[in-house]
Amino acid sequence: MEQKICIITGANSGIGKQAACLIAQQQVHVIMACRNRGRAEKACQDILSVDSSMSLEIMILDMADNISIKQFSERFAQKFDHLDILIHNAADFDISRKKPAYTPQGIESVWATNHLGPVMLTEALMPLLGKSTDGRIITISSKGLAMLPFTKVDTSDCEFRKRRYSVAKAYYQSKMAQEMYTVWLARQLKGTSVTANCIRVGAVEIDINRYPDLPGFLKKLYSMKKKLSISPKAMAEIYALLALENQFASSNGVIFDEHGKPLKALASKYSPPSIEDVMKITKTYLQGN
Ligand SMILES: NC(=O)c1ccc[n+]([C@@H]2O[C@H](COP(=O)([O-])OP(=O)(O)OC[C@H]3O[C@@H](n4cnc5c(N)ncnc54)[C@H](OP(=O)(O)O)[C@@H]3O)[C@@H](O)[C@H]2O)c1
Repeated sequence: MEQKICIITGANSGIGKQAACLIAQQQVHVIMACRNRGRAEKACQDILSVDSSMSLEIMILDMADNISIKQFSERFAQKFDHLDILIHNAADFDISRKKPAYTPQGIESVWATNHLGPVMLTEALMPLLGKSTDGRIITISSKGLAMLPFTKVDTSDCEFRKRRYSVAKAYYQSKMAQEMYTVWLARQLKGTSVTANCIRVGAVEIDINRYPDLPGFLKKLYSMKKKLSISPKAMAEIYALLALENQFASSNGVIFDEHGKPLKALASKYSPPSIEDVMKITKTYLQGN
């Protein structure tokens, strides 16, 4: 049987790194799609120290840069003739950020990294996903949305050009957009060999050293949150289940909770704006790429 191929974005830390390890342990060839080679190599060595026979490869990908996404997709297509699993794990969520950051294309970074990037990458890799007999796209959202029922995508101002910037608002807006995209994509994929599902990740331990600029009170908040959090490995087990287990092969357009249980009737609640409105504005960003 042909070896399965899996791409995990942001696989050099946290849940992505643990998922790379768990999925590679299942004889899958895992591409760690990371923006920083040094951090990716360190993570790759850590994983291989568990079992050096695992099949891992680093490919550079910056989800905040359209050109990087394009180049990554082209390099991937030159090297591989199919793709079985695509996990959109990478995310921009630096909560110490007070002002918006912008991508090389001048787009607000959270919107670009967490929503536009995954849409663009999925579109670029779709021909190769279509060659898999069991293609699976997994997007990552946040359980925090359950506590923020009024979160919506502001289609008139996705990038906070007209309203006061809040990195938390930008983050949850981007996660909401990813959920809506997943439901939209699943509809397009109906009847094909490819599925799209989403996981609402709950509270997971974060490496606080990744955020040296975090003010003291936020550091305290994170250390309190740690007590209520599960380990990245425990969360990665759900990624691996959805990516590999037969029982999920026919799931399509489902938003799963952090335990891998479907959250029923969520899809019908996304309005206003509607899924179509969000995809319409999303497509305007992707024109010309
Ligand atoms: N931890 C939680 O409590 C929690 C809760 C809800 C949802 N989530 C979601 O779970 C996922 C994984 O989070 P985590 O807890 O494992 O966080 P993490 O340890 O901070 O990992 C985030 C990963 O994303 C990468 N990344 C960020 N921007 C990128 C870019 N432009 N291009 C490529 N990679 C980029 C980071 O790479 P660098 O090392 O280069 O920065 C890092 O590898 C995220 O989608 C997050 O939104 C987490």
